[in-house]
Amino acid sequence: MGYKDVYQSWQSDPETFWLQAAEAIDWDQKPSKALFDRGNDLYEWFADGMVNTCWNAVDRHVAAGNGSRVALIHDSPITGTQSKITYAELKTLTATLAGALKARGIEKGDRVVIYMPMVPEAIVAMLACARLGAIHSVVFGGFAANELALRIDDAEPKAILAASCGIEPGRVIPYKPLIDGAMAQSRHKPEFTVILQREQAIADLRDGIDFDWHAFQEGATPAECLPVEGSHPAYILYTSGTTGAPKGVVRPTGGHLVALNWTMKNVYNVDPGEVFWAASDVGWVVGHSYICYGPLIHGNTSIVFEGKPVGTPDAGTFWRVIEEHDVKSFFTAPTAFRAVKREDPKGEYLKKYDLSGLRAIYLAGERADPDTIEWTQKLTGKPVYDHWWQTETGYTIAGNPAGIEPLPVKIGSPTVAMPGYDVRILDEGGHELPAGSLGAIAIRLPLPPGTLPTLWNAEDRFRKSYLSHFPGYYETGDAGMKDADGYLWIMARTDDVINVAGHRLSTGGMEEVLASHPDVAECAVIGVADDLKGQLPMGFVCLTKGVNRPHSEITAECVKLVRNQIGPVAAFKLCSVVDRLPKTRSGKILRRTMIQIADGTDFKVPATIDDPAILDEIREALKSLGYAKT
Ligand code: COA
Ligand code: AMP
Repeated sequence: MGYKDVYQSWQSDPETFWLQAAEAIDWDQKPSKALFDRGNDLYEWFADGMVNTCWNAVDRHVAAGNGSRVALIHDSPITGTQSKITYAELKTLTATLAGALKARGIEKGDRVVIYMPMVPEAIVAMLACARLGAIHSVVFGGFAANELALRIDDAEPKAILAASCGIEPGRVIPYKPLIDGAMAQSRHKPEFTVILQREQAIADLRDGIDFDWHAFQEGATPAECLPVEGSHPAYILYTSGTTGAPKGVVRPTGGHLVALNWTMKNVYNVDPGEVFWAASDVGWVVGHSYICYGPLIHGNTSIVFEGKPVGTPDAGTFWRVIEEHDVKSFFTAPTAFRAVKREDPKGEYLKKYDLSGLRAIYLAGERADPDTIEWTQKLTGKPVYDHWWQTETGYTIAGNPAGIEPLPVKIGSPTVAMPGYDVRILDEGGHELPAGSLGAIAIRLPLPPGTLPTLWNAEDRFRKSYLSHFPGYYETGDAGMKDADGYLWIMARTDDVINVAGHRLSTGGMEEVLASHPDVAECAVIGVADDLKGQLPMGFVCLTKGVNRPHSEITAECVKLVRNQIGPVAAFKLCSVVDRLPKTRSGKILRRTMIQIADGTDFKVPATIDDPAILDEIREALKSLGYAKT
C-alpha cells in the first residue's frame, strides 16, 4: 500500500485503523474500542484497555528473548565517556528504582518531577515512573529555578529525581542549588529528592529529604509493571504558551504507545533491533517521544547523546556518532545543522566518516530553511525529511512517510498529513481556504491517539487555547498553506510563541519578567530572525518617569533578570531602552511591525498606528543592536 491508500484507509475507517495499530502493543486487557467520545469536543483513545508503558518499552522485549539487545547507548563527548545498557539490564534498573520509589510511597497517579541532563538514568527514571503508573514531568536543565518552581506548583510532585549537575561546554551547572531555590519559592513542597551524584559537582544532601541515587535503591524489592487504563496520564510536559505560566500537556498512556510505535516504521523507517538517534534532550517532547519511548517500545536501540553539534569536540561529532553506532535514522533540529555548516561549510569532517549505514535524516522543531536542507542533502547524499509536529501532538502531524513510501521532497514543506490528522487551512472566520492560500492551520477533531486530551488541571485553558477559536477543530497556533498536491507549508506562529534554536519560548513570558524590573514601565519582546538559532528574542523597555540611570546598566539588568527567571535557554541577550512603543490608537503594541522592520520584510505602516514617528526610534534601537534591515 502507498501513502494515499494508507491515509485513505484511516479516513474511511479510523476505528479499524487504530485498533489494528493497537495490535502491536501488549495489553493486559484489550480495549473494547478505539475512540471514546466524551462529548463537548473531548475525546479519549483506548480508554478501557489496561496496559503498562514500561512493560511495552522494556520487559516485553526481554520476555521475547531480546534481553541481550542494546536498548540505550550513552555517548557523552562532553565527559569523554560511553556506555551501553541492554534491555535485560534496563529491566533490572527500572524495576529496582521503581521498587525503591514504591517503598517510599510513590503510587499510581502520583507526580514525580525529573530534572536531569542527558544521562541514561534520566530514561531509567521516566520508565520507573511508568512502571508504577506514576506521572512524570521532566524539566529541561536549561530552565532557571523559577521555571522549575512554576512546574512544581502546577504538577504538585511527591518527589524530584535529579542529577547533581548538568555539563555545558566550558561550565558545570550544579542542579541542587536550582532545586533548593525552586523548593524555596514553590508553594507545594515535594517530600523527597533522589540525586544522582556526578563527579563534576557533588551535591550536599540533607538527611531524610535528599537521597543518594544508589543508596536509595540498595536492597529495594524490584517492582512489577502495574497495568493502568489507556486514558491514564503517562506524563505531563510543560510547554510555552502566550503567558509566563507554562501549559501542562497531558500524554495519555494507550494512545501514546500505539501512535509512537506506528511512527517508528512508517515515518522513521526503522525495524526492531536497528539504531535510532534523536539528538535532542529528554526535557523536550522530541526527547520523550524519540529518545525514550518510541524507539524502546519498538525494540530499537536509542542513543542518549550528551554533547552539542559543534565544540564537543568539533563539527564532526554527528558524523562520528552515526558511523560508530551504525545509526539508521537520525533526527535533529535544523539549527544543529546550521551550527555544523557554519563551522564546517565544506564538510571536511564528514570526509573522515562512513555514513553508508544511514538511511535518512529527519528535521523538526522549527522551520527548516531551504539552505540548510540543501546543504545537508548535498553533503551527506541522504534524503533529508522535514516533519512538523508539536509538544501537544507528541509525534508527526505532517511528514514524509518514508517507511510506507518515500514521497518526493519539496524543499520548504514538511510534506503531507499523517493518518489521523485531517489538516485544514482556515480563514479568520473558520472557513476553509482553497489550495495555495495562507491561513490558520487547524486539525479537525478528534485528534489521533497519543495527542493531548487536555491540559493538566486546566481544562478551561485547554478549550480556550485550542478549541474555542475554530469550533470542531484543534487550533495549532501555526499559520501556513496546503498546495494542490496536499503538501503543507508551515510559515509562522499566530501567537507570541517563538522558536529559539528549536526551543519553544514565550515572548509574553519574557515580557512578564521585564515588567517586574523596578525601572521598567512598559515593554515588548519580539522574535527576530537569526542565521543560527532561527529566531532570537529582543526586548524593548520604556523606563518609569524620573529614572535616569545609564541605559546600558538597566538593559544589562534586564538580560540578567530573564536569565535568572527563565533560564539561559531563553538566549535573551538583546535589549534596548526606547521612549515609547509603537501602538495602535486603541493601545495595542505593534509587535508585528517591529518584527518586519527588524527582519527587513516589506511592510505598510499600519493605518491604525497612533504615531508613525515612533517607528524611527524603533529602527534606531534595532540598528544599535545590529538589526533593522529596512
Ligand atoms: N542546562 C543548562 N544550560 C543550558 C542547557 C542545559 N541543559 N542547554 C542549553 N543551555 C544554555 C547554554 O549553555 C547557553 O548558555 P550561554 O548563554 O551561557 O552560552 C544557552 O543555554 C543557550 O543554549 P543553546 O540554545 O544550546 O545555544 P548554544 O549557543 O549553546 O548552542 C546550538 C547553539 C545551535 C549548537 C544549540 O542550540 C543546539 O544544539 N541546538 C539544537 C537544539 C535541539 O536539539 N532542540 C531540540 C528540538 S528537536
Ligand atoms: P514544540 O512544541 O517545541 O515542538 O514546538 C512546536 C512548534 O515548532 C510548532 O507549532 C511550529 O511552530 C514549530 N515547528 C515544529 N516543527 C516544525 C517544522 N517542521 N516546520 C515549521 N515549524 C515547525
